[in-house]
Order: sequence, then structure tokens, then C-alpha cells
Amino acid sequence: MNIVIFGPPGAGKGTQSAFLINQFNFFQLSTGDLLRNELKSGSTLASEIENLMNTGKLVSDDIINNLIEKKLTDQSIENRIIFDGFPRNIEQAKTLDSLLGKYSQSISLVLNLKVDYPILSKRISGRVSCSVCKKTFNEFFDPPVSCDHLDCKTRTLIKRSDDNEETVTKRLKIYDESTLPILDYYKDKGIVVDVDAMTEIAKVSEQISNIIKDLKS
Ligand code: AP5
Ligand code: MG
Repeated sequence: MNIVIFGPPGAGKGTQSAFLINQFNFFQLSTGDLLRNELKSGSTLASEIENLMNTGKLVSDDIINNLIEKKLTDQSIENRIIFDGFPRNIEQAKTLDSLLGKYSQSISLVLNLKVDYPILSKRISGRVSCSVCKKTFNEFFDPPVSCDHLDCKTRTLIKRSDDNEETVTKRLKIYDESTLPILDYYKDKGIVVDVDAMTEIAKVSEQISNIIKDLKS
């Protein structure tokens, strides 16, 4: 079963993907994470995408589709992928369908994380992650007490460079204009399930767990 985890910046897509990996052995394919890794590598692509990401704009569809297709050729993750942060516009959604078709796969479920916008800037401004295991915490809602691994004793807590008020406003605007329309595309296919993502993290995970168990049974 392949899943799209859908929602605005700060809705909890990454947080709930981590839960799905642990609970159901899914593989998280986050285009945001792939792009941030590219930035760290200092590649030619890095200079092209850095400014776009830091200003909350979308990276070109060609770059994204290339990153995705590379992953889809990996048979070890076949039919257990969570698409996080992708697709982000109708063109990407259509490309995803045709790429998945090429590799005899499809999307079975779109988890629509529903959140009221006013909470998002606090979630994003409080987000920190462990420099070693990459686990995400929140200074307000999920304090960074300790990580799961011993190696993380040497951790520092990292903030994303696009996690500031100005960029969040732009990211939300782009989400409304380009990303939200995808929901109708998936609703027409009858695969969207709403999740109340305003509640605490564990309760959101519980809802998601029940949805997946229902689909699997
Ligand atoms: P990306 O990395 O995908 O960022 P995003 O979509 O803005 O989403 P976030 O990662 O900010 O939020 P999230 O929903 O994962 O929330 P999280 O779980 O961390 O993209 C970054 C950039 O890359 C884009 O702006 C664009 O430039 C580029 N890009 C990426 N994909 C692209 C694509 N396909 N096409 C073109 N460009 C692309 O949670 C947030 C915080 O809230 C955490 O601290 C967490 O602990 C806390 N939290 C989570 N759930 C709860 C809860 N229920 N209650 C309280 N706190 C919670
Ligand atoms: Mg994320």
C-alpha cells in the first residue's frame, strides 16, 4: 500500500510518517528531506534550489520528478511508500500516477491532515530536530528530552532555515494556491480520508493507525 500524507506546512506530515515507519514498516519519501540532503551535498543542484527553499517557493517539477523516479526504481520499497511533501501541484500528482503505473504501483490512500492555520506558525517556530538521528521535536508541544539512541548524547538541536514567520506565510500561500487543489483530484478517485490533526501527536497517530488497519483488513 502506497500512501500520500497531505497537509499544510507544520501539519505533522513528517511526525506521522515517523510513526508509520515504526508501526507499519513504511518507507518515507519526503521531497523536502531529499532536497535538504542535496543542499548539504553542495552539488550544482544545491545552488539552484537553495534560494527557492529559503523563500518558501516550489522547486521545479523536473527536479522533483527526477528525484522521485530514482527512488521508484528501488524494489525494496515497492508498495510501502509514504509520499511526504509530494505531490505539491496537479502536474506532480499526474506525474506520480504515471510513474507509479510504469512500475505497476498506485496510491491507495491520501491521509488529509486537517489543521487550523493559526496553530501552524507556533508548530513551525518550535520545531527542532536531533543532529544525529534526525528525530523531530517541538519546543512548545513535544519537548526534546532525549532521543531513542545512545549515539544522540552528542546531539545538537537543529532548526530549519525556512522555519521563520516570513517564509511560513509564503509557504502557506503557495500551499493554498498550488497544493490544496490536489485534494479534489484525489477525492474524485475516492481515496481521501480526513484526519483531525489539531489534537495531540499520539491521538493523531491513533486515528491513522485505525484507518490503515481498516484498509488492510
Ligand atoms: P517540506 O520539507 O515538505 O516542508 P513543508 O511541506 O512546509 O512541511 P513541514 O516539513 O514544514 O511540515 P510537516 O507537516 O512535515 O510537520 P512536522 O511533522 O515536521 O518542504 C520544504 C521546501 O522544500 C518547500 O517549501 C519547497 O521549497 C521544497 N519542496 C519540497 N517538496 C517539494 C515538491 N514536491 N515540489 C517543489 N518543491 C518542494 O511537524 C511540525 C512541528 O509540529 C514539529 O515540531 C512537530 O513536533 C510538531 N507537531 C506535529 N504534530 C503535532 C501535533 N499533533 N500537536 C502538536 N505539535 C505537533
Ligand atoms: Mg516535513
